[in-house]
Amino acid sequence: MIHLSNIEKVYRTKTIETIALNNINLNINKGEFVAIMGPSGCGKSTLLNIMGLLDAPTRGSIVMDDQQVTALSRKKLALFRNLKLGFIFQSYHLINDLSVIDNVELPLLYRKGISGTERRKRALEALEKVGLSARTKHYPNQLSGGQRQRVAIARAIIGNPEIILADEPTGNLDSAMGEEVMNLMLHLNKTDGTTIVMVTHDELMAKKTQRVIHFFDGQQVS
Ligand SMILES: Nc1ncnc2c1ncn2[C@@H]1O[C@H](COP(=O)(O)OP(=O)(O)OP(=O)(O)O)[C@@H](O)[C@H]1O
Ligand SMILES: [Mg+2]
Repeated sequence: MIHLSNIEKVYRTKTIETIALNNINLNINKGEFVAIMGPSGCGKSTLLNIMGLLDAPTRGSIVMDDQQVTALSRKKLALFRNLKLGFIFQSYHLINDLSVIDNVELPLLYRKGISGTERRKRALEALEKVGLSARTKHYPNQLSGGQRQRVAIARAIIGNPEIILADEPTGNLDSAMGEEVMNLMLHLNKTDGTTIVMVTHDELMAKKTQRVIHFFDGQQVS
């Protein structure tokens, strides 16, 4: 599903050059739920951003869903992202001025040929899946952390993505809410067969996935 070959990412600022990823070769299979662990600064978010086509590698190639994506134009990349990928972040990244349901609908706004009625219907279905049908008219700041993250998950799944990339999705949540969010992701992986790559610092969460990949200093160590 995701094949990274010889991926390198170098960040250059005026004074310092950081090799955030050093020759990464990694294959994620369709339907897999993989956890990525490692100390702060070892390159986990960089890796996820590159897999999510949010940032380009300095070197190397990415094949996703049998497509060589490294060579795609910005426009085609954006389309590919919108159709195939869903994102979940530690700090939710919801828009505070939009209601829950409007936040969830956002990814479909960028797709052609979906009517307003269809968008609403699918947003309600996604919110039902995450157990938030009763909160559609609320605003993000009227929700608990766990509820906000579930809205973010509804937004990530509304477009039926084949791949979900989650960067410390339970990082801001207490253990009960974290567990709820984790169970939801396990359910998506099991019932919809969604491929999930999740960065986590939490051993207990990582243990529930099918494979744990350890990073250190920009490299995969196990
Ligand atoms: N935009 C940037 N410009 C310069 N350096 C960066 C940039 N983004 C990340 N880095 C550097 O790249 C390295 C990897 O950062 P990254 O955010 O991928 O780490 P991480 O493993 O996600 O850490 P954490 O667990 O703290 O989130 C770090 O040394 C960081 O300082
Ligand atoms: Mg990070």
